[in-house]
Amino acid sequence: MSVNTKCQVFTPNRNVQELLDYIGYTQGLYGKKVAENSCGDGSILVEIVKRYIIDSMDKKVSVDKIKKGLEKDIWAAEIDIAHIINCKAKLDEIAGEYGLVDVEWNIFHGDFLKQKITNKFDFVVGNPPYITYKEIDPSNRVFVRENFETCVIGKFDYCYAFIEASIKSLKKTGKLAYLIPSNIFKNQFASNLRNYILPYLTDIYDYKNQKLFAGKLTASAIIICDLDNSSKSITYHNLSEDKKYILNKELLEGKWVLKENIANPEGVEFVRFGDYFHAASSVATLLNKVYIISDFIEGDNYITVKGQQIEKELLREAVSPRSLNYEKKEYIIFPYYYTKEGLQKYSDVEFRKKFPCAVRYLLQFKKILSERNNDEGINWFEYGRVQALAHLNQKKILISTLITGHVKVTLLNELVIPTSGLYIVPKNNQPIYDLSTAVNILRSDLFLEYAKNVGVISNGKSFRISPKDVNNFTFPVSLLK
Ligand SMILES: C[S@@+](CC[C@H](N)C(=O)[O-])C[C@H]1O[C@@H](n2cnc3c(N)ncnc32)[C@H](O)[C@@H]1O
Repeated sequence: MSVNTKCQVFTPNRNVQELLDYIGYTQGLYGKKVAENSCGDGSILVEIVKRYIIDSMDKKVSVDKIKKGLEKDIWAAEIDIAHIINCKAKLDEIAGEYGLVDVEWNIFHGDFLKQKITNKFDFVVGNPPYITYKEIDPSNRVFVRENFETCVIGKFDYCYAFIEASIKSLKKTGKLAYLIPSNIFKNQFASNLRNYILPYLTDIYDYKNQKLFAGKLTASAIIICDLDNSSKSITYHNLSEDKKYILNKELLEGKWVLKENIANPEGVEFVRFGDYFHAASSVATLLNKVYIISDFIEGDNYITVKGQQIEKELLREAVSPRSLNYEKKEYIIFPYYYTKEGLQKYSDVEFRKKFPCAVRYLLQFKKILSERNNDEGINWFEYGRVQALAHLNQKKILISTLITGHVKVTLLNELVIPTSGLYIVPKNNQPIYDLSTAVNILRSDLFLEYAKNVGVISNGKSFRISPKDVNNFTFPVSLLK
């Protein structure tokens, strides 16, 4: 059984208390079945056992019965035997403090996801293993994709399967409290998971940018699901700002925007950014280290790169949010041209005849160029993706996909090529409003607030947004001026 040790990050006691308090694992615990299905060294289980014993003693349950209750009411699983040994030692110690000895702890050693659960639970409490798709070993990936509906699309995280399996292991009135990475609210590949949990979800306790685990950047939240719940809303608790909001479940579609559902003030018309402008990803050469040139000697008609000349006629100035920060001049090989009809491509023969120096430069990389995962019908010297190219030959705005503090907006001229970040042009090349209007909108507090809500937290302080997020931004029509 392979064990991924990177996911073995254990829950601090403060958050253990919160998990158990939020789900109501506080009293009347004798006879209530509880599961911790990835128990590690027992951070959560120790507290479960402590609460169970104290509450049962308060209710005057005999020591003998409590011992039997601990054995049949509390169930755990863990894949790593070393942790089970530590965990049992901790549980023995805590039980011993209350005069309970030789308890046969019911901890299953093995893969919880492959376990057929026959006894269902009143409570499932946990902090499951988070393992990114890349890090799940290939045979396990296939198993998870084939057995969990939350994992059928794209690059799922291992924890999605745990959430699904845990919900399935609840009694009809059972409840789940799970500490999860908050990117599940926004990640593209967690959309099936969001749809799966939404009917049961009652509360989200969002730690926002508080870091729970030393040395880890994960942004965390606790979700509470209740199988017996039919409410049309959830309560969203922003723990950083000590605020809570009631959110209508019907409005949680696509990426979840977790903030107050502000009703549009009467009489104020709202419009969508994407109806006037178009945000898109920058060019994708699929081999920037060949196409983007930052180390060169500049001549009149050629630049020289490691002794090899390239015709300047084939080059465009390349700009990215990063190069703007460093004020560094970079060129990009641009093997296309535009006419009134739009983007034009060179044939192989034309290209070789017109740019013999650049061809010599590119041929040095012919093997890696041919190994790219290109769009269909691409010549060997062209970029891997054509999508971004059609609208580039005009003035545009560049913003970073990563928003930190404020939205940095840069206007670029027709000839400059954005090589990373998002670029924005007027919709359909027919500006009703010119780009200065888009600049004002993107610099507004409203857009920043929106980006924070819709973006995926990247490294604690930054939010990653996509072109679709920008196009979907709605704002009062008064900003269009
Ligand atoms: C994030 S840790 C959390 C441990 C504990 N729940 C806590 O909160 O302190 C996840 C644990 O899941 C265990 N694990 C990983 N894959 C598992 C699987 N398929 N079945 C059971 N346990 C697993 C890991 O060994 C690790 O101890």
